[in-house]
Amino acid sequence: MKRKRIYLIACGGTIAGIGTDACDLTQYKAGQTTWQEMVQAVPFVREIAELEGEQYCNIDSSDMTEAHWLGLAARVQAIVDDPIYDGVVLTHGTDTLEETAYALNLLVHTEKPVVITGAMRPATALSADGPLNFLAAVQTACDAAAGSYGVLVLLNNRLCAARFVEKMDTMQVDAFQSRQQGYVGIVQDGKPEFYQRPVKRCTQQSQLYLPVTNTLPYVPIVYCHVGMRGNIFPFFANDNAKAIILVGMGHGRVSEVIKNEVMALQQRKILCVRTSRTFGGMVTKVDEYATWLWANSLSPQKAKIVVQLALAQGYSATQIQDILNTH
Ligand code: SIN
Repeated sequence: MKRKRIYLIACGGTIAGIGTDACDLTQYKAGQTTWQEMVQAVPFVREIAELEGEQYCNIDSSDMTEAHWLGLAARVQAIVDDPIYDGVVLTHGTDTLEETAYALNLLVHTEKPVVITGAMRPATALSADGPLNFLAAVQTACDAAAGSYGVLVLLNNRLCAARFVEKMDTMQVDAFQSRQQGYVGIVQDGKPEFYQRPVKRCTQQSQLYLPVTNTLPYVPIVYCHVGMRGNIFPFFANDNAKAIILVGMGHGRVSEVIKNEVMALQQRKILCVRTSRTFGGMVTKVDEYATWLWANSLSPQKAKIVVQLALAQGYSATQIQDILNTH
């Protein structure tokens, strides 16, 4: 059978990390080895796919910027638009992998597989998980059907939809889960097996496109807690924030002190979006916060991406709410 042609984009992270010895699982340095070294560690990957690749960056993913996302989305789009390639695999640090995956899920318009993976243990560790994750990501990208699930996140042989995936553990190899919505499939015997299809709009159906500039509007996230003071809010307004994502209590609620601060921001035309620090369930419209937007089931960091991209495209508050609900 003809091998599929897969393009690898390496971004760094623990999958490219180097530790002091095989037991070093926490003090290692992320983003050290190259994409070619990663392929050399799994030589039989070339038996299943014709691989080409590039080192887009080689960083700890906490240093990812919004400019990186936009550049990466443009690069992935160019590759999937090229008829010679069948799919794309990205390797990325796990700490912000879910954000990059979701940004690509919204910005890359394609029906070809786009699979993003990483590792919880550095390349030098005993039982490093990177090589198997990389192999399974390539196996998934070789299956044309994988392109109809949006951007897929693959670690520990589990496939998650970018819309719902979250990193849920600081150290363990099963850190990536979709808490309430579940996995979309698994990889076994060298191929993906899908269980369910995410229904939110993504990739080919996404309403969002790459902005013309390589910056996005400033949209800070604020985590609410008992004893919180309101003095941070005028700072955001003076720092040119265009919207604010509030990580509220329960169903996205905040104290009277914070509510008054947010009302003042709204008078300065700054949007406010309610999310929840429960990290489960949905935040929906309530009369008490009638002029605020709500995040549906998006995490704060994913709601932020939607709002930034939608603002960059000039959408109104009503339109942004519709995109929050549907993407
Ligand atoms: C990173 O996110 O770059 C470091 C942590 C990891 O990849 O697991």
